[in-house]
Amino acid sequence: MDRRALWSGRFEKGPSSSTLSFTSSLSVDERLAWYDVVGSIAHARMLARQGIIRPKDERLLVSCLKRLIKKIEKGELELCEDLEDVHTNIEFILTNEVGEAGSKIHTARSRNDQVVTDLRMALRDSVLEIVDSIISMQTALLKIAENNLTTIMPGFTHMQHAQPITLAHHMMAHFYKLARDTERFFDAYARINVCPLGSAALAGTTFNIDRKYVSDLLGFYRPCENSVDGVSDRDFVAEYAFAASLTMIHLSSICEELVLWTTPEFAFAEMDDKYSTGSSIMPQKKNPDVAELIRGRTGGTIGNLVSLLVLLKGLPMAYNRDLQEDKSPVLEITDTLVPSLEILTEVIETIRFDSDEMEEKTKNGFLNATDLADYLVTKGVPFRTAHEIVGKVVRYALKNKKRLEDLSMKELRNFHDRFDEDVSEVLPILKCIERRRSYGGTAPEAVKTQIDQGYLVLRKQRGRARNMREKIDEAWKTLL
Ligand code: ARG
Repeated sequence: MDRRALWSGRFEKGPSSSTLSFTSSLSVDERLAWYDVVGSIAHARMLARQGIIRPKDERLLVSCLKRLIKKIEKGELELCEDLEDVHTNIEFILTNEVGEAGSKIHTARSRNDQVVTDLRMALRDSVLEIVDSIISMQTALLKIAENNLTTIMPGFTHMQHAQPITLAHHMMAHFYKLARDTERFFDAYARINVCPLGSAALAGTTFNIDRKYVSDLLGFYRPCENSVDGVSDRDFVAEYAFAASLTMIHLSSICEELVLWTTPEFAFAEMDDKYSTGSSIMPQKKNPDVAELIRGRTGGTIGNLVSLLVLLKGLPMAYNRDLQEDKSPVLEITDTLVPSLEILTEVIETIRFDSDEMEEKTKNGFLNATDLADYLVTKGVPFRTAHEIVGKVVRYALKNKKRLEDLSMKELRNFHDRFDEDVSEVLPILKCIERRRSYGGTAPEAVKTQIDQGYLVLRKQRGRARNMREKIDEAWKTLL
């Protein structure tokens, strides 16, 4: 069997080896082989059902394609470098194995609709894998939160001591960012899971195909409405890449905190040895390389998102070969995000917090200054005035190396006559926390609500992901 291109008829001579290797996408799109074969099974089924190919051809094609699936799953499918891409390879194998029936598979389709169908099926699976991993990380965060409702620590703004919060409250902040990441992936999924197969090259086809049937067979929500759009739309790739980038950005924030919190300056936490690394020269070192690499690789993910957006900018309709370049960045994004989520979850599950150090650090930085101003407000002083007065109190305390709770009534009264003995009830750090009972606030009961709601969010998201997975599995059960 000679290995001519699928399009050799029009040419007097074949492409140079330089053109072949320059245009080949096999090294990247071979990862789509499984999806390509599944798509071909659905296409063959539909062609036969519509009377476009004979039942005998369908049988030959489908049984050969099913053999290919087994080979792919065992990692035994051999693809040929000089055959441009995965689609060409599969058609070549089909034709080689079942003869004329194989050469009928490409009726009423094009690689243009084929490649984007494959990619949509691949990203659909990636979304579900990512959502599962995000949920595992959230579960780890919830556990820490539950166990640390009264573990107090300084809360920061501008990396300066701001107001006291609890470790539980801080962990739940990360939790809700991740919950939105999952929502974004679900949103993207709704637009990923649309079937372009049957768009053919761009204009649709003269054959009486049934696009709805193919879409159903492959577990898609529906066929896309417009064939020109079908082959040129990569919005779903960009959306996926954005959702992944923002997730990586959230992970990088967690990682940045792990790096800071494990320094002797903070000493809030210690990472398990299993997830730490040493130095080749400094024997004492315990380095947070895992966290640093996730922080660093976030740059690569954002770069890939930008590559995709720039790739799409100004592209005319419909398919252009530029679009081949979408796969490497988007697959790289998955390859970065999934392992990052997995290992960071393990890091979080095994990290040890030093609650004594955290509490110790709440003694500095006048974390209760807002509470002192709020106190004056309850005594009838307008907030802005109270703010100004407490600012002066802080300046005085700094100069005299005292904390606010160390100041005598006499010293306080020098600043305002509304200061009274009951001021001692608002200054202890634990009080500052307990009194912030506003919805979403740091008081243990408010954080408990956040945790309870967190479990509900997780249950809903888990259920949604399970439904999506079941729909795909059902499709495969029928088709394969
Ligand atoms: N390898 C191509 C891609 O990834 C498949 C589609 C090629 N279509 C074409 N008309 N050359 O986009």
